[in-house]
Amino acid sequence: MTTKPRTLIALGSFGAVVLAGGAALFACEGPEGPPGAIVFVEGGTLGQPGPAGPVGPPGPSGLATLDGGTSLTTSCMMPCHGFKGIVAQWKTSTHYFGAIANTDEVPTWTGPGPCGNCHSGDGLEQRLASNVGVAAGSSAPTGLTSGEINYKKGAGVGEISYAGASKVAIISCITCHDISATNDPHVTGQTYVAGQFKLRVKSGPDDQMLIEKSPVAGTVSGTPAGKWGVSNTCIACHKSRKDVTNYIAASNPITSTHWGPHEAPQAEIFSGKGGYHYAGKTFNNSTHQSLAGCASCHMVDSAENGGFPDHSMRPTIKTCATAGCHANVTSFDVAGGQGVVKAALGELQGLLAGQSLLTRSATAPYVALAAGDPALSDQRYELDLTMPGNVITDIQAGALYNYLLIAKGSGLGVHNPIYTKELLFDSIEKLKPGNLPPSAIPTRP
Ligand code: HEC
Ligand code: HEC
Ligand code: HEC
Ligand code: HEC
Repeated sequence: MTTKPRTLIALGSFGAVVLAGGAALFACEGPEGPPGAIVFVEGGTLGQPGPAGPVGPPGPSGLATLDGGTSLTTSCMMPCHGFKGIVAQWKTSTHYFGAIANTDEVPTWTGPGPCGNCHSGDGLEQRLASNVGVAAGSSAPTGLTSGEINYKKGAGVGEISYAGASKVAIISCITCHDISATNDPHVTGQTYVAGQFKLRVKSGPDDQMLIEKSPVAGTVSGTPAGKWGVSNTCIACHKSRKDVTNYIAASNPITSTHWGPHEAPQAEIFSGKGGYHYAGKTFNNSTHQSLAGCASCHMVDSAENGGFPDHSMRPTIKTCATAGCHANVTSFDVAGGQGVVKAALGELQGLLAGQSLLTRSATAPYVALAAGDPALSDQRYELDLTMPGNVITDIQAGALYNYLLIAKGSGLGVHNPIYTKELLFDSIEKLKPGNLPPSAIPTRP
């Protein structure tokens, strides 16, 4: 007879618990009874239990369960390991799944260079501990603990490189939370205590993160993004990586398909500060800026999980409808807002394509999007890349930058409807013959 490896644990009042190999069990409940023997069986037959050990000290009390009692299962399950617990939610998120889906990219993202600052499991931890790389002769940014990643490099701008050694690109619990041997329930064997999973990034009422955009060209100091509490964590990674003030000059050579903001410039839009602002324009925020931050929509406390924040990071239509905000909505296209942004993006895309500034192919980039191209009608604006080989003015570059920013980071306007439309209005007006306003946004909000 062959026996699969298994662990037999006798645990006082809980009786014998048999777990399949690999499952972790830790004492979550008190008081403990006399521990029995632990017998490991590797491919043999079951051994005899040893004599009972001395009575152990009482364990910490368990979490209250939904039925008012305590039990081993529930205290481990809540809030983390339940069927719909935080761990299960997180496993459906792009933070977990994105890295798995892009496994072949992981060595690039976690190797030397700037990518690991946001794409490796410990990138945030290293940045906050000032363990980052800068070019010889340059100093690290002064705002590292505020998320700053750009620094003055000679006459230009550099980006800190990742100085850790992780080969894991998953954004996991310990990426965002300050969990160590002293407070990790798996190590201490203690029950989870509410508030134990502190965030690494500062989240006090007055704490602000920086986006890279500097107030004046020639300096590299960033711009405070606003007071977003726990959502400061998101802003540490979800930003353009570009200092638009220093990035756009009178003349701009486009040498790659990835000119402009990085994939995730949500902080630039949400803060209402990160776009390219044409001279003489003033900007406004939407009602969404009176929310507490990204977590207000992306991490709503889920009832299924005892009121803990949803770590799937997925916004829901139900959230839009709560608190008297948007009664009876059935999609994120509230009052047609996303439709307007899509239409204006389409108009701007057409103007930029008309100047041969956009392409779709990173492998064969020397094909500009042109009239009749199906890409100009599929509304997948976030897929557009920049066409190498052009040298463009600040007017063109500003419009191209804003286009990419809104296509990739605005949630089609949701992140800051008014600011998004203002950026679109200005960019289209600058490129359109006769400086006419966009058809989709006839008056600037
Ligand atoms: C400041 C943080 C930051 C840095 C530094 C950074 N990224 Fe990202 N990157 C992000 C975030 C956040 C996203 C998610 C964007 C989204 O889905 O909206 C992302 C998305 C991506 C994507 C799309 C992934 C997908 O699954 O679709 C690629 C590819 C990528 N990054 C490559 C890189 C490379 C290569 C580097 C280094 C040269 C890099 N990134 C540096 C934050 C960063
Ligand atoms: C991308 C960043 C991020 C990741 C990854 C993440 N969390 Fe969180 N977590 C947060 C934020 C932000 C909050 C606060 C949300 C709020 O208060 O609205 C939070 C709150 C919590 C809380 C409640 C607060 C507390 O201190 O008890 C727990 C528990 C928690 N997270 C556990 C986890 C676990 C377990 C994982 C891994 C499966 C995880 N988190 C992964 C960002 C993250
Ligand atoms: C350590 C950097 C980091 C932090 C902190 C972080 N993210 Fe992310 N986030 C990423 C990366 C990287 C991706 C893309 C994952 C991939 O493709 O590998 C991503 C993806 C996402 C996505 C999915 C986007 C898509 O198009 O599928 C959402 C939504 C998201 N993050 C929201 C948040 C929120 C909300 C917070 C704050 C609570 C946060 N993130 C904090 C790095 C981060
Ligand atoms: C008012 C609610 C709300 C707030 C606040 C909010 N988001 Fe979103 N976000 C959404 C919605 C809704 C979508 C999805 C839009 C769609 O799919 O049509 C979205 C989309 C995203 C995406 C997918 C890519 C994109 O931009 O479309 C990411 C990543 C993201 N948000 C991150 C963030 C971050 C980071 C913050 C804070 C800086 C934030 N969000 C603030 C509601 C919000």
